[in-house]
Amino acid sequence: MPSNEQPFIPLSVPHLAGREWEYVKDCLDTGWVSSVGSYVTKFEEEFAKVVQTRHAVACSNGTTALQIALQCCGVQAGDQVLVSDLTFIASANSISHLGATPIFIDAEPKYWQMDPAEVANYLGNECTFTNGETFHKASGQRVKAIMPVHILGNPVDLNPILELAQEYNLAVVEDATESLGASYHNHSVGSIGDMAAFSFNGNKLITTGGGGMITTNSPDLAKRAKHLTTTAKIDPVEFIHDEIGYNYRLVNLLAAIGVAQLEQLPDFLAKKVEIANWYRELLGDNQDLHLMPEPDYGKSAHWLYTIKFQNRSWRPIQKHLETQQIQSRPLWQCMHQSQAYQHLSPSINPISAHLQAECLSLPCSISLTKEDATRVAEQIKVALKTS
Ligand SMILES: Cc1ncc(COP(=O)(O)O)c(C=O)c1O
Repeated sequence: MPSNEQPFIPLSVPHLAGREWEYVKDCLDTGWVSSVGSYVTKFEEEFAKVVQTRHAVACSNGTTALQIALQCCGVQAGDQVLVSDLTFIASANSISHLGATPIFIDAEPKYWQMDPAEVANYLGNECTFTNGETFHKASGQRVKAIMPVHILGNPVDLNPILELAQEYNLAVVEDATESLGASYHNHSVGSIGDMAAFSFNGNKLITTGGGGMITTNSPDLAKRAKHLTTTAKIDPVEFIHDEIGYNYRLVNLLAAIGVAQLEQLPDFLAKKVEIANWYRELLGDNQDLHLMPEPDYGKSAHWLYTIKFQNRSWRPIQKHLETQQIQSRPLWQCMHQSQAYQHLSPSINPISAHLQAECLSLPCSISLTKEDATRVAEQIKVALKTS
């Protein structure tokens, strides 16, 4: 078959094979389609059980979930928040939306996550701890929080970050948007920091089309998150609001999809392990690339299966795969190189830049077959020989 007639293999598409239709129909039949309803409550309760937190608060998307979590943890305009440099821009934007400044922390080379040693360097060398608060010496800005981003399904090494947060009196807001199902020393990602955020965007492990969730073990923080995401209304009848809140609610219709997706999470996670094993079997002995590493301190959710080429750019490989009807995707432009953040004082994060230059994410939808994975692996080998 000519290559252009081969079936298209997408990167990561939703898998809606459970009770989504039934639950959505229930919303439509009963008229409970909008911002309150039993599916919102059920989704929050079931999600909290999965992530092993006391509370979960549904949100309109992952970006708003991050913003609200930061705000609940006391981040204010003018503060600094330390965040992974190698991440999707929404992590940094959630900080900027509050008028705070993101400080971009380099990745560590082994597992590609926020480097705790770089967090220690920044706090130790560039900041001072005075009267129980941390201040950036050069700008005078208060440093208020750390946002480790668990990228690609892998957990960040959190213990050293939690120790630093305690030493410098900083909040920890986990960006767990990409890593539902991952764990760190047997604790679910999203249950370890003060608060965490998840995303149910279309390419995430479970999807509601668009949506998010805030998790926390603190009843006070959960209450405040609910308050802020639901317009800060304080009276059940009258329209009385005690501060400027947001309409960041997840609607019942989407929560219904979330409940159905969550029911399939164990199967999805098992399939992701299977896909990772296929790629290991098919590409593991290739000297020209490294497979996505699973940290020795935790369990990966293998959300977006990614490989790193050995001293080669991902660009010609991605181009070749495209000609073969195979979708692949580079990592995000590093935040310190983004035009959106050029106004900040320049930081140099060589590991993040190096990973961005050489990594490529491969097809890993729940519906991927071994035959698909074999075709992907074969075409990567062809591209490595010819490019
Ligand atoms: C690392 C990271 N942070 C934040 C987000 C934002 O989530 P959403 O698209 O639901 O706003 C995403 C995903 O899109 C992400 O990958």
